[in-house]
Amino acid sequence: MHKIKTAVLISGRGSNMMAILKATQNNDYPAKLNIVISNKPSAEGLKKAEEFGIKTVVLDHKTYKNRHEFEKDLDTHLRSANIQIVCCAGFMRILSPWFVERWKGKVLNIHPSLLPKYKGLNTHKRAIESGDTIHGCSVHFINSELDSGKIVLQKSIEILSDDTPQSLSERLLIKELEAYPQALKKIANELIHSKQLNKSN
Ligand code: GAR
Repeated sequence: MHKIKTAVLISGRGSNMMAILKATQNNDYPAKLNIVISNKPSAEGLKKAEEFGIKTVVLDHKTYKNRHEFEKDLDTHLRSANIQIVCCAGFMRILSPWFVERWKGKVLNIHPSLLPKYKGLNTHKRAIESGDTIHGCSVHFINSELDSGKIVLQKSIEILSDDTPQSLSERLLIKELEAYPQALKKIANELIHSKQLNKSN
């Protein structure tokens, strides 16, 4: 079975990355996890990926002259691994229009809110303070505006009267770990089908 070569970009814990990794171990899953890249040397997710024999790369953004130099290196690593889809999973760097244009339609992100609500940070606190009764997560394509690209999939949970930002984020994470592998499966299948169509035309 042809599998879409995938990279996951992380900055921390890496639980979404692990959910993707586990999904890719299924024979029928249409994507393979080829590389995990972190902009933080201390990201816990790096060790987890290595334990599963996944190639990891650290590109410490602090050691680059500017954002463009960092992204040029990121682009080189992705291209040399022949990556077809990039999944940002808790990757806390904004990607510039240059990078977004080069990888147009190939970069996914997971965001802890029901977009278009609560773009940016502190989404759980903002949902509680707004008196919302429903919260959720969104897997979306990245475009040149923050958290604004086309939505692939959303999952929601109820906000309980005694929820804190912490309890809400913990309950939402369970949904995130279902959402990202499902969204990647959908996009990878679409890519496989479009390549088959191109071949037969
Ligand atoms: C996840 O909750 C993800 O939705 C959030 O960071 C966490 C990463 O956790 N992403 C953002 O806030 C992006 N703006 P993880 O490293 O354990 O997957």
